[in-house]
Amino acid sequence: MEEPRVGKVLLSAEAIGTRVREMAADIARAYEGREIVAVGVLTGAFVFLADLVRHLPNQVRFTFLKASSYGEGTRPGELSVTLVGETALAGKDVLVVEDILDTGRTLVRILDILRQSHPRTLRTAVLLDKKARREVDISADFTGFSVPDEFLVGYGLDHAQTYRNLPFVAVLNEA
Ligand code: XMP
Ligand code: MG
Repeated sequence: MEEPRVGKVLLSAEAIGTRVREMAADIARAYEGREIVAVGVLTGAFVFLADLVRHLPNQVRFTFLKASSYGEGTRPGELSVTLVGETALAGKDVLVVEDILDTGRTLVRILDILRQSHPRTLRTAVLLDKKARREVDISADFTGFSVPDEFLVGYGLDHAQTYRNLPFVAVLNEA
């Protein structure tokens, strides 16, 4: 299949697989056999989440959230968050799973909202970190890879909802 806009492969499927298994080992160690409530941030995190949790020995329950920014022209902080699935987070060990940390604003807002449910612990796992673009002071508890400031697709990341199913992460070429 010809994919003219899929450019240089930054992270191969093999490299991602190795790193995801390492992250799962770190997470398992941090949670010491406790049950985890994994909160997947839709839509981009679904591939990473599915791979990550299959390497966790812990019991895992799942919920998903959709973070949507309001229309253009509004302040970036204005985000609505909808939870889908397991919503009883009080007293639980909650792990937010996200595809990529960019300015950091989305994750900060998500954490603010989840904190209102009084989880016992609240931690974050992100596959990719675009550190150069950070606007707010946040870093994930578990990070897969630092990536350069380029628009990336694959392994959950999309351009106009396509390319999410690519098994690798690549740079999107200019149209
Ligand atoms: P902030 O800036 O709030 O946003 O940290 C993180 C969200 O921005 C999206 N994002 C990307 N999506 N390729 C994508 O497909 C990228 O290179 C990229 N960089 C940021 C993503 O939805 C993430 O949740
Ligand atoms: Mg996203």
